Amino acid sequence: MSGGTSTPAGPGDVTYRCPVEGVKGRRVPAGGQTAFCALEVTGVRKTFEAEQAPIRALRGADLVVRDGEFVAIMGPSGCGKSTLLNLVAGLDVPDDGTISVAGQPLAGMAEDDLARMRRRHIGIVFQFFNLLEGMTVLENVALPAVIAGRSRRGAESRGRDLLDLLVVADKAASMPPSLSGGQRQRLAIARALANDPTLLLADEPTGSLDSEGGQEIMELLRRLHAGGQTILMVTHNPQVAAVASRLVSMRDGRMEGSGP
Ligand SMILES: Nc1ncnc2c1ncn2[C@@H]1O[C@H](COP(=O)(O)OP(=O)(O)OP(=O)(O)O)[C@@H](O)[C@H]1O
Ligand SMILES: [Mg+2]
Repeated sequence: MSGGTSTPAGPGDVTYRCPVEGVKGRRVPAGGQTAFCALEVTGVRKTFEAEQAPIRALRGADLVVRDGEFVAIMGPSGCGKSTLLNLVAGLDVPDDGTISVAGQPLAGMAEDDLARMRRRHIGIVFQFFNLLEGMTVLENVALPAVIAGRSRRGAESRGRDLLDLLVVADKAASMPPSLSGGQRQRLAIARALANDPTLLLADEPTGSLDSEGGQEIMELLRRLHAGGQTILMVTHNPQVAAVASRLVSMRDGRMEGSGP
């Protein structure tokens, strides 16, 4: 849901308040109830062709993330966690099953609509940051909002709020290579929040950080969630998963305890 725009409201989605201290204009469910599904994944299958045998990365994955939830996915390496996140982000398409983000099924969406939906509803944080090294910190944070059609001034103003919130404001004019790992990841999170996404996806956000950097990111995600941000995170670290409000275990391409 983009703040200040005429985004269609979900059921009960009536109040307008600031869930994240210092960042204005996100619409949230009345009374903080979890009124609608930020994400619904049903029976999703994905097979990759490989030289020897096809790899069945997802074998009927089901997942519901309600608005305001913070869900952590854990599971052994290769069980399909990143594949699932990529499909949810619309970066790849499932062979079978359905994925709906903020009530909108991704299947059959035209390329333009999918890109728009992604910009509006999805923020992604990867393990290795994926920052644009030739741009300043502020330009990195402002870019998604500029691409989404905001004025440069508006985008930079929100960018500054986010940098402030994520405690990297003093680095606005720096270039990413001069930042520490933890600062780079905070910047990547700020950028993912630029368009006030319905759903923040994070794939091992602490995976390449030392324990102090990891702690900072955990604390930050905890604060964002406390402020109303819906988060779906993949992690290998049980301590990191402990900050989530719900843990989902994956194995062999589906959620543990579901399916045959
Ligand atoms: N683009 C691709 N082409 C071929 N095989 C792929 C592709 N992406 C993923 N796979 C395979 O699909 C399976 C699931 O991969 P995925 O990256 O989703 O695992 P993961 O649970 O995220 O693992 P990790 O914890 O190591 O990151 C793996 O066997 C992987 O090799
Ligand atoms: Mg992975």
